[in-house]
Amino acid sequence: MAIERTLSIIKPDAVAKNVIGQIYSRFEGAGLKVVAARMAHLSRAEAEGFYAVHKARPFFKDLVDFMISGPVMIQVLEGENAIAKNRELMGATNPKEAAAGTIRADFAESIDANAVHGSDGADTAAVEIAYFFRSSQVFAR
Ligand code: PPS
Repeated sequence: MAIERTLSIIKPDAVAKNVIGQIYSRFEGAGLKVVAARMAHLSRAEAEGFYAVHKARPFFKDLVDFMISGPVMIQVLEGENAIAKNRELMGATNPKEAAAGTIRADFAESIDANAVHGSDGADTAAVEIAYFFRSSQVFAR
């Protein structure tokens, strides 16, 4: 199976809840390694750029407002099948539909404040990782 990298963001609601460590434990328990990480309070321009693909969606402004409402924890996860594995750990976008035991089922309140982001495919992962990290800031392990 391929070793992949994926971009993960612990969103402002989960940072405020003080569950960064609990979420990292889930990544590590599933065999995903943190190979880059930084905390940031995104500017509006940074959040709008990151979510540019959703610009025409009705929830775009709410999503950006939420993502700049407090600090986020941004990391690159590496491991076998990392993209799908991370999305499995996250659970469905709407926490009310997320399977029991997933991050969103356990830590998220609503579709607006849903605790985590994870890249949805290999091409997206490469773009999203490069959006936040230079290659020298990502550490092979
Ligand atoms: S899609 O069509 O599959 O790309 O859309 P989806 O993955 O469901 O959602 C994309 C991101 O938008 C967020 N989202 C919302 N934010 C605020 N309000 C509403 N109603 C809403 N619906 C979706 C969702 O959490 C996704 O954010 P990320 O950070 O990519 O997980």
